[in-house]
Amino acid sequence: MKPTLTPFEYHGDFLEVLDQRSLPNDVKYIVCRSASDVASAITSMAVRGAPAIAIAAAYGMALSARRSSDMKAAASLLLNSRPTAVHLKKVIDRMMVLPREAMEAEARKIHREDLDINIAIGRHGTAVLPADCHVYHHCNTGALATGGWGTALGIVRSMAEIKKLSHVWVGETRPYLQGARLTAWEMMVEKIPYTLVSDNMAAKLMSDGKVDAVLVGCDRVARNGDTANKIGTLSLAVLAHHYRVPFYVAMPLSALDEECATGEGIPIEERPAIEMLGYGFTKWAHPKTPVYNPGFDVTPAALITGWVTEQGLWRPQP
Ligand code: MRU
Repeated sequence: MKPTLTPFEYHGDFLEVLDQRSLPNDVKYIVCRSASDVASAITSMAVRGAPAIAIAAAYGMALSARRSSDMKAAASLLLNSRPTAVHLKKVIDRMMVLPREAMEAEARKIHREDLDINIAIGRHGTAVLPADCHVYHHCNTGALATGGWGTALGIVRSMAEIKKLSHVWVGETRPYLQGARLTAWEMMVEKIPYTLVSDNMAAKLMSDGKVDAVLVGCDRVARNGDTANKIGTLSLAVLAHHYRVPFYVAMPLSALDEECATGEGIPIEERPAIEMLGYGFTKWAHPKTPVYNPGFDVTPAALITGWVTEQGLWRPQP
């Protein structure tokens, strides 16, 4: 199994990042030569998705190590680039205990490990989902959000490979449209049958019996199973519970925050108002409109049917 799309490529003295802000209309790349460049690419969401930002940060550390920069300053810049995904902190902690000369190899290893983890999640996911499955998916958890394969969309890819998948409902994912812009594009590239819907159509689909399972990714999971993921995940979980649709989280074990007992301890990023007021050059609300724009919400463990990890189903810890 080979990745078809990759969010970045490391070239030794620079990291080439596919700029996800202009997808799917323009395929453009950003060149990052320092940890500060990588941190900006993460904050601006040129690269996004919890595993992808962690791998990019590892390469950012490797770039700093090459330039003999201050490693503590580099780590702090990267750590503060986005607050919700715990993978970022774990990767930076892992890099910081190494000598500079080991950092490049470690970043490449973290990247390779992510691909293996995703493929294992995909394999385990196929065992829990029903045959001829109509999946509802939120945000983008595919190749673009990871080292090049996908977590929830990795399960979708594995299901498609073994002909267990019927079709994917691709939720648009307001306000930043990761579903419409990125997941729909990935499904098209992968030739996986899909239909784009706006987020407010999920209830109708479920009430019409057109969804067999909801599949989402995660940015941080507390010990009790409360799960932070893209804003809108919680409403889908509530709907799925009401309509008795199984609700699965694809979860690399690196998303578990052992220090966090419940979802209340998970920091939720607030994104800039501009991301609500329009997209690119198109603006649909007055620039002075007051805006509330949390990037994530927390789904209580009780609404989640299962967490699919690289080692099989995970159980919340008491
Ligand atoms: O704000 P984003 O686009 O980085 O949010 C992405 C998500 O919420 C994903 O579901 C999550 O990071 C898992 S990606 C495998």
